[in-house]
Amino acid sequence: MMSYAKISQVAHYVPEQVITNDDLAKIMDTSDEWIASRTGIRRRHISRTETTSDLAAKVAEQLLEKAQITADELDFIIVATMTPDSMMPSTAARVQAAIKARNAFAFDVTAACSGFVFALSTGEKFIASGRYKRGLIIGSETVSKTLDWSDRSTAVLFGDGAGGVLLEASHQQHFLAESQGTDGSRGACLTSGQTSLQSPFSEKEITEPYLQMDGRAVFDFATRDVSKSIKETIAASGLVPEEIDWFLLHQANVRILDKMARKIGVAREKMPANMMEYGNTSAASIPILLSECVEKGDIFLDGSQKILLSGFGGGLTWGTLIVII
Ligand code: ACO
Repeated sequence: MMSYAKISQVAHYVPEQVITNDDLAKIMDTSDEWIASRTGIRRRHISRTETTSDLAAKVAEQLLEKAQITADELDFIIVATMTPDSMMPSTAARVQAAIKARNAFAFDVTAACSGFVFALSTGEKFIASGRYKRGLIIGSETVSKTLDWSDRSTAVLFGDGAGGVLLEASHQQHFLAESQGTDGSRGACLTSGQTSLQSPFSEKEITEPYLQMDGRAVFDFATRDVSKSIKETIAASGLVPEEIDWFLLHQANVRILDKMARKIGVAREKMPANMMEYGNTSAASIPILLSECVEKGDIFLDGSQKILLSGFGGGLTWGTLIVII
C-alpha cells in the first residue's frame, strides 16, 4: 500500500573547536577581509577527534530523543557523505551500530553537496512504497580531513558538521515536487579522494587525494544551471516563488546565494545563510541550516509551511525538493 513521507524532527551537531579566519591567517597567506568578502565565511568548526560517523551518531541520538522513540523502531538509516570513516563499513552502518538500531538497514549516499537532497528523496521513496515507516536521513562530513591545508584557495572554504531529519509515514502528501540531475562530463571541476590502482598487476597512476576545485566553473554552474533547474522545479510544482516560505540552499558561498536569489526571482530574506559560522559543510549544510531555522522559530515543523531544499556540487550534481514541513 502506498504511503506518504513527512519530516517530523530535525537536529544538528558540530564539533566544538572553532577556527576563525584570523586563525587561518596564522598558518597561510590569507586574511579575514579576503575570505569574508569573497565567501561570507568567518568561522568554521573543525573536528579534533570526532569522525564523520561520530558526528552523525550524535545527530541520530538527538532525533530519537526529540521523537521519543527507540532505535529499534527505525527501518533505515541513510547517511549522505563524501568523507566517510571508511569505504567499508559505510558511515551509516557505523551509526546503526553506535545507536543500536537493530532493525534498520543502513547505507551511504555519495553525491557531494547534493548528497542530503538525494538521500532524502531516496528515503521518501522507501516510505512511499508502504514497506517502511521510519528512517533517519543524515548529512555528515569531516571535510577538513580531505583538504590540502597548504592550498589557501580551498582550505578556507570548508568546515565539519552534521545535520539530519527523522522521516516518518503520514496520511498526507508533504513532498510536492523534486528534480535531480548529474553531469558527469563536468566532474573534473570538483574532485576529492581519488584512489589509484596499486596491485602488482596494474600500471601506476598519478592521483590527487586532496579536494581540488575550479572555483569559477563551480560558481557559474551554481548560479546559471542550478538557478534554472530550481525555477523549472517550482514551475512544474504549479507553485510560484511567492508561495514558498523558505529557500534552503547549499551553503557554499554568500555571493552564490545573492546571485541565485536574483536569478530565481525571490527575496534574499527568504534564503537564510549560515556559512559565516560553519563554512561549507557539503552534504551537512542543508540539514544544519534547516535545524537552525527550526531552533530560531522561523520554521515551525507543524505542516504549515512550504520549503524548497536545493543542493549542488561535485559530480557535478544538483537536486531540489519542495516539501511541506
Ligand atoms: N586568501 C587570499 N587570497 C586568495 C585566497 C585566500 N584564501 N584564495 C585565493 N586567493 C587569491 C588567488 O591566489 C588570486 O590571486 P592572483 O590574482 O594574484 O592570482 C586571487 O585571490 C583571486 O583568485 P580567484 O580564485 O580568481 O578568486 P575568486 O574571486 O574567483 O574567488 C572563490 C574564489 C571564492 C572560490 C570563487 O571562485 C567562488 O566563489 N567560487 C564558488 C565555488 C565555491 O564556493 N565552491 C565551494 C565548494 S563547491 C560547492 O560546494 C558547490
